[in-house]
Amino acid sequence: MSEIDVSEIDALQTEALAAVAAADDLDDLEQVRVRFAGKRSQLNTLQKGLRDLDPDERRTRGQQLNALRQALEAALGDRRAQLAEVALATRLEAERLDLTLPPRRLRPGRPHLLTQVEQEIIDVFVGMGYRVAEGPEAEAGAFNFDLLNIEADHPARQEMDTIYVEGFDDVVLRTHTSPVQARVMTTTPPPIAVICPGRTYRADAVDATHSPVFSQVEGLVVAEGITMGDLRGTLLAFSRRLFGHEREIRLRPSFFPFTEPSAEVDVSFEGAGGNHGWLEILGAGMVDPNVLTACGIDAERYTGFAFGIGIERVAMLRHGVADIRDLFEADARFLRRF
Ligand code: DAH
Repeated sequence: MSEIDVSEIDALQTEALAAVAAADDLDDLEQVRVRFAGKRSQLNTLQKGLRDLDPDERRTRGQQLNALRQALEAALGDRRAQLAEVALATRLEAERLDLTLPPRRLRPGRPHLLTQVEQEIIDVFVGMGYRVAEGPEAEAGAFNFDLLNIEADHPARQEMDTIYVEGFDDVVLRTHTSPVQARVMTTTPPPIAVICPGRTYRADAVDATHSPVFSQVEGLVVAEGITMGDLRGTLLAFSRRLFGHEREIRLRPSFFPFTEPSAEVDVSFEGAGGNHGWLEILGAGMVDPNVLTACGIDAERYTGFAFGIGIERVAMLRHGVADIRDLFEADARFLRRF
């Protein structure tokens, strides 16, 4: 019959507890646990060997080995708690944020001034129940000119400094957003209330007030019984929403081939030092019956008004921008102001 020596148990306990104490991180400690308390540990072997002892000795040695296992597990548990605390403290230290550091200044982006103004104009009209319509920038001459009553030999055709698209018969970069009204009228039965924002092109030399690329918002209303009074009321409401409640508008007689009568519309301003006057903001008029007819709308039954707003011009007036080039040069120092 085999025997277990007490001194062997004592030595094992001393060795195991020393190893637990010496483990200096959780991985290390796990290895110690496997080595001294795992399936293949000496302790396990000894406990399995108990069954070969005679009953008295089995009891005594069994109690001693149990005591050893308990002591070992208690020591492992304590050490694990200690090491976990150390690990947490180390990690917190490593991930610590110094909230007193000055923040790095991020400048959030925002829409370009022209986009902001376009959006404001759109919002005003959408608020009045208009829908937004769009058309192509490379436009058929039929829409840009013919349907709008601008005939081939009409001076307006030359005045507009049209840019033609090479290699295409009768395709131009649209000189205004008015072709979108023709597109809407040829496809939609009245009542119509649309605004048409977009880029427009003319072969203009660049200076403080001209750019070959610019943008407009076109407006069109066609229904039964629409009058010049509706046009005036609409533009007054629009001007006050955009420029301020105290504003007045003034319609001056003008000429556009697609409207009859036509008007240039000014908005009043009060400047510093009692300085006041009128600023031109858009062109407008009653849709010429020829245009209605050409676009397939019964001109006996329906009337309409239209207007065209220059977005750059409105942006410059509203924000005191003196040079249109500032709107296209993408100088962050300028753009940041808006
Ligand atoms: N299309 C004109 C231009 O580009 C602006 C304009 C004037 C549009 C009168 C209209 C209008 O719809 O009725 O100069």
